[in-house]
Amino acid sequence: MKIAHISDIHCNEGYDFNEKMFDKAAKLVNKSEPDVVFISGDLTTWGLLYEYDLAKEKLKQIKNKLVVVPGNHDERNLGWKLFPEFFGETDFIHSFDDINLVGLASSEPDKDGGRLGRGRHKRIVEGISKNKKTIIGFHHHLIPIPNSGRETNIIEDAGETLDIILKNEVPLVLMGHRHVPWAVKIHKTLLVNAGTFSCNRTRAHFGNTFNIIDINKDEIEVTVVNIEKEKQNKMIKFNLSDGCCANKYF
Ligand SMILES: [Fe+2]
Ligand SMILES: [Fe+2]
Repeated sequence: MKIAHISDIHCNEGYDFNEKMFDKAAKLVNKSEPDVVFISGDLTTWGLLYEYDLAKEKLKQIKNKLVVVPGNHDERNLGWKLFPEFFGETDFIHSFDDINLVGLASSEPDKDGGRLGRGRHKRIVEGISKNKKTIIGFHHHLIPIPNSGRETNIIEDAGETLDIILKNEVPLVLMGHRHVPWAVKIHKTLLVNAGTFSCNRTRAHFGNTFNIIDINKDEIEVTVVNIEKEKQNKMIKFNLSDGCCANKYF
């Protein structure tokens, strides 16, 4: 199975949104022919109606199935009421042939930080199946992300969340928020951050990126696509059966 993991689109009529970059990026996503596109939040900047309209319209360029969770920006200004109108449930379990994808809203109205809480922890456990690989996706991050400035927005209940994920050997967690691509393995879990797809607020030379995640029987491989340069960089390869990983982070 191939997942295009994109994040932090930041549709906006001000400085945030780079529409040209989005258009180029959407073509690259289509070219990579993913089975599903997971968007880990921040589709808007202020959670405003016109931004939701713009995000919905722009995402029509992506031809594959979209699975979307909200980010902290999407919840601003009552945006949390708009999200379900435009993109459906904020918390869900989608079943694919050999994968359960658990999407969770880690954001709360008018707060930059995030938490999951006991209800969503239960959702994680519900999504765990012996016959399928479980993938969990939400906006905020569980652990510190390098190259992203001073750490302030790890989810409040990161300890409990990480404990549930590691105990259950959840193979893959997808996150966004920091506008930096990164991946790290802890025990038998690969934690992956996507950079920003089309926001002008990029960091240093990272540029706008998205991740392509190939999931095979025994292996997960994450490739970072630099959108402007149209260049792919294989970031991490994780062997599920022996739990080892090769990190070629750039
Ligand atoms: Fe963002
Ligand atoms: Fe965010």
